[in-house]
Amino acid sequence: MMALFDTRIGLASLLALIGLNVVASVLPYKDSDQTHEQRLADLLPRMTLEEKIGQMSQYVGINLLAQSEKNMTIEQLAKSDARGFYPDLHSSEMPAFIETGKVGSFLHVVTAKEANLLQRHAMKSRLGIPLLIGIDAIHGTAMVRGATVYPAPMGMASTWNLALVERASTETASEMRATGSHWSFTPNIDIARDARWGRVGETFGEDSYLVGEMGVATINGLQQGDFTGQNKVLANAKHWVAGGDPITGINLSPMDVSLRTLREDFFPPFKRAIEAGVFTFMAAHNEINGVPAHANRFILTDVLRKEWGFKGFVVSDWMDVSRLHTFHKTATSQKDAVYQSVAAGMDMHMHGPRFLTPLMALVEEDKITEERINESVKPILLAKFKLGLFDDPFVDESAVSKALFTKEHQKTALEMARQSIVLLSNKENILPLSKSTRLFVTGPNANSNAILGDWVLRQPPKNVTTVLEGLEALSPGNVDFYDVGNQVKNLLQKDIEAAAKRAEKADIAVVVVGENPLRYDRKGKTSGENVARSSLDLYGRQLELIQAIESTGIPVIVVLVNGRPIAEPWLLDNTEAIIEAWEPGGKGGQAVAEVIYGVTNPSGKLPMTIPYSVGHGQAIYDHKPSAYRHKYVDAPTHNLFEFGFGLSYTQFKYSQPRLANKRISPKGSTAVSVKVTNIGDRAGYETVQLYIRDNYSQVTRPVKELKGFEKIMLNKGQTKTVEFKIQPDMLAYFDLDMNYVVEPGKFTLMVGSSSRKSDLKTVQLTVK
Ligand code: BGC
Repeated sequence: MMALFDTRIGLASLLALIGLNVVASVLPYKDSDQTHEQRLADLLPRMTLEEKIGQMSQYVGINLLAQSEKNMTIEQLAKSDARGFYPDLHSSEMPAFIETGKVGSFLHVVTAKEANLLQRHAMKSRLGIPLLIGIDAIHGTAMVRGATVYPAPMGMASTWNLALVERASTETASEMRATGSHWSFTPNIDIARDARWGRVGETFGEDSYLVGEMGVATINGLQQGDFTGQNKVLANAKHWVAGGDPITGINLSPMDVSLRTLREDFFPPFKRAIEAGVFTFMAAHNEINGVPAHANRFILTDVLRKEWGFKGFVVSDWMDVSRLHTFHKTATSQKDAVYQSVAAGMDMHMHGPRFLTPLMALVEEDKITEERINESVKPILLAKFKLGLFDDPFVDESAVSKALFTKEHQKTALEMARQSIVLLSNKENILPLSKSTRLFVTGPNANSNAILGDWVLRQPPKNVTTVLEGLEALSPGNVDFYDVGNQVKNLLQKDIEAAAKRAEKADIAVVVVGENPLRYDRKGKTSGENVARSSLDLYGRQLELIQAIESTGIPVIVVLVNGRPIAEPWLLDNTEAIIEAWEPGGKGGQAVAEVIYGVTNPSGKLPMTIPYSVGHGQAIYDHKPSAYRHKYVDAPTHNLFEFGFGLSYTQFKYSQPRLANKRISPKGSTAVSVKVTNIGDRAGYETVQLYIRDNYSQVTRPVKELKGFEKIMLNKGQTKTVEFKIQPDMLAYFDLDMNYVVEPGKFTLMVGSSSRKSDLKTVQLTVK
């Protein structure tokens, strides 16, 4: 009771309390009949400074802490800044700690039971403010055992199907809420410009427009409007900004990028995320032009809040506030790091106790104002009100199993996997195979959970269909499997030889290779967070395995299961077919098998260029005109596969595109239309793509930029007309003075099935 009369509690709250004794027993902020804003206005003045900073403080879940404490020594933990552990706060002390009101949020709580336990402790705190629980549910809430695992984002982007991405995100939100989480650290709308970077697979690829569209679909699915209600979650636009082109290719390494490139390429998906209502941002690990994102006022405040009017809150990334001191060395102490970060515009600290005390001191020393603290706390509390947490922070533990991996969700995951698979090559239409083919299957990813991708913890085997299982289910008795183990790093000579020998008995070999992104297989990982590569070929001896099988004379179909592009020209020259499956999720093996046997007609298109070699980076389709004026002396200058490319088992014919108006004013608009006909002999999806080039401009412009796309289904012989509206912002760019303008002149509009020149038909538009 004493605390209620703390002098820091305002008169208004006191009056409200007195009033309540007479009128009602519920404090206004706990009264669901009041608006969220009224409840917030009532709560904030009741809070002490410590309780406010508590709301800005996030911690990792107790179970994760306990695991780290159990499995690693203090010295190991201290060295591994990627593990959740607090030297001065043992997991056993956490319950009492929450009850002091010093914790506002948790991350990585993977069971409903733990979520409820944490909330029960939060309810015992003075004001009973519920916790906001965040998780990396980037393709399903896959750190939770038993959840639906959808294709990883690179695969999602390959579908070019926004409705499917939105649906999967809505389903993810419901699985998250059922298990006690309210905030997904997704979409990752980094522009992936360097395939060495291990996180490429968790992005939507290299193109700013496609990434923006995918990001918006994800946000719409997760937040479903303004996220008010019990079945919705907060989305998170990350990583703000420009981590997708690290100078060394290694996660967290510096980004040196011009303001022009930031504005033209890296900013737009984030701006679109705000327009779609995203309520949280996450700052990037990296520095941007010498200033770490976490201390970057230009990024966190000037652009985000002042220029774009963002009203939500920014969370720091894992330990990145401390890294201002420990890695970047812009801060001379932890306290200085906290100061730099909060002063720059960061609102919530991920994660741990080394934030509250320094920030309290900074406010007491008048270096940070309490008003600044209020600015951070308000949106955090508002989110908790809107999500309904003040009304009921608990979940029904007995209902969890029914809410996860439902039939409906499995259907979406399967359909998404089908549409994400990209058929890269198919010599003499060897695919699809007849089900009576005697198939030989091998490779480290044939019977592996690598199909699940990154940000996944162990899943029940019955929820995962591996590629082998998918093939066996569709053609029982016709599949011979040789197990070379599931470690892409460790292929043994004896297994290579034995596999080649066994292959001889079959009609066709399917070799499943690629990368290992699994978080729970730390030693075996070759991609995923913090796992960069200096090369893009097939890791280890995987190519030798394929070559050994190919040398027997048997036709080889390669299935790639990987997060990042694999540059292995030998495959294109020497194998019969290449299927890029990316990380297709729990239903991925079924989808791959369906493509192989023609149950599904592949329709995925590449969201990222596949270069000829690692040295060919940055191989992006929207390069500047002079990029390839000269040639490499030691290798072909072209890419292996271009952005937007993907084969089908049918063929599509494009008509010459037509413009409604061939001349428009800089503020005018027009439309371009094209007729697409399925001239093959089976139904199929086609993604019709629109690219635009500004022919002449004050400042150099890319040779083409994606400005629209539409995925259509065409039956055999069917024709559909696709029309794209051409609006001024599709023609505009930042001129010499960085004004966003449409320059008069000619523009080339290109419509077709990929970004390849030979796949595009063009028409000229004049802006007068
Ligand atoms: C990653 C974030 C992620 C966070 C929480 C960080 O290491 O960079 O993307 O959301 O961890 O798991």
